[in-house]
Amino acid sequence: MKDGHLNCIEPLESIETASRDELESLQLKRLKWSLNHAYQNVPHYRAKCEATGVHPDDLKTQTDLKLFPFTTKQDLREMYPFHSFAVPMEQVVRIHASSGTTGRPTVVGYTRQDIKTWATIMARSLRAAGLTRHDIAHVAYGYGLFTGGLGFHYGAEELGCSVIPMSGGQTEKQVQLIRDFNPHALMATPSYSLVIADEMERQGYDPKQSNLRLGLFGAEPWSNEMRVEIENRLGIDALDCYGLSEVMGPGVAMECLETKDGPTIWEDHFLPEILDKDENPMEDGAFGELCFTSLTKEALPIIRYRTRDLTRLLPGTARPHMRRMDKITGRSDDMLIIRGVNVFPSQIEEQILRDERLSPHYHLLVERIEHMDRLTVKTELRPDTYLDQRENIARSLQLHIKSYIGISAAIDVLDPGAIERSQGKAKRVTDLRPVDNSSRG
Ligand code: DLL
Repeated sequence: MKDGHLNCIEPLESIETASRDELESLQLKRLKWSLNHAYQNVPHYRAKCEATGVHPDDLKTQTDLKLFPFTTKQDLREMYPFHSFAVPMEQVVRIHASSGTTGRPTVVGYTRQDIKTWATIMARSLRAAGLTRHDIAHVAYGYGLFTGGLGFHYGAEELGCSVIPMSGGQTEKQVQLIRDFNPHALMATPSYSLVIADEMERQGYDPKQSNLRLGLFGAEPWSNEMRVEIENRLGIDALDCYGLSEVMGPGVAMECLETKDGPTIWEDHFLPEILDKDENPMEDGAFGELCFTSLTKEALPIIRYRTRDLTRLLPGTARPHMRRMDKITGRSDDMLIIRGVNVFPSQIEEQILRDERLSPHYHLLVERIEHMDRLTVKTELRPDTYLDQRENIARSLQLHIKSYIGISAAIDVLDPGAIERSQGKAKRVTDLRPVDNSSRG
């Protein structure tokens, strides 16, 4: 969106311009290696294969992958903390973990080569987003057990950017550094990028005046309406980065600047499948659960990992031989069932953002009152909206939610700033219904 950046294009890796045939033959070779590696070195996965009666030698073509057992988050919990590692501990140089809302965290490990591979894939992702070695990268993803901060950090260094390892939080300081250091790219969760924009405005600084040109956003679902909001507020191109710690971290797929049409999956490292409700692989284009098999990971080879993320596979565009994924509609576990209707928070988000008088910050409260589910959508006025418009705003949002999603919701229109802000992944839902309730998604 902004002009003035150096007209430098970093060269692509050769696999990024290969043919589909070349890619598939590399995938098959790597898939055989990865399956064997998991089978030989992870007793839990080997036992699952033996129970199903399959052996890595049974894989002759890519479609034979469907014969092999899945790996679930539950499997990783059973292998807590380190039994999922396929190499001796002295070869593991990094450990990350995903917090998880309940129970034990999911632990992942990396060899020195894994860290190199990840940095290369992240550098590729940043390049696809339009960054070059001349750029300054402001990393506002959390550093620590979460893979966001260090994943982006190593990739940006690998590409040759000047990296500001700011991490999440300290929003005033984030803004000071963006104003003083003039970074070209912001890396944060989409919800946190808006907290940063709010803080800029609070300081009397127009977010569009910054030197930022690009935003690399992910780690949580965000709608296209949210993209438009972020781009308009910050005057940047906002690109979608997808990943999960179990499969590597950020950079499993990245949206390319020239097409901006959904993340390209780096298929030379991660093989995607989409599964239907009965766990059968579906054709490209059909919506279902995304599942990944790692092709090059050493410390934690992961076979057919059930991500629980819902999306579909699309044909390649910017990298014609590599498939894209559509925006994640949500995780299957985020789906709310309200009086029998399936609802994702992102659907409500789309409706909120249709009204220019409402801020993009929101929270959903689900309760059970007298045996009935009740959804309250807590929204917030933009600072420049007249307070007397509340009733009118609430009525119109209620109507839109009813006609587009099919549920009745109570709407709270709160004062500007009333919704709690997050510094990382936004918590969009509080579900107070009894846990044994079968209507929870
Ligand atoms: O969130 C890795 C990451 C960091 C990705 C920074 C992108 C940017 P986890 O904490 O393990 O890893 O959470 C993974 O977050 O299964 C999705 O449900 C969600 N998620 C990640 N990226 C996106 C995205 C990191 N672009 C989980 N859109 C995944 C929607 C996303 N959801």
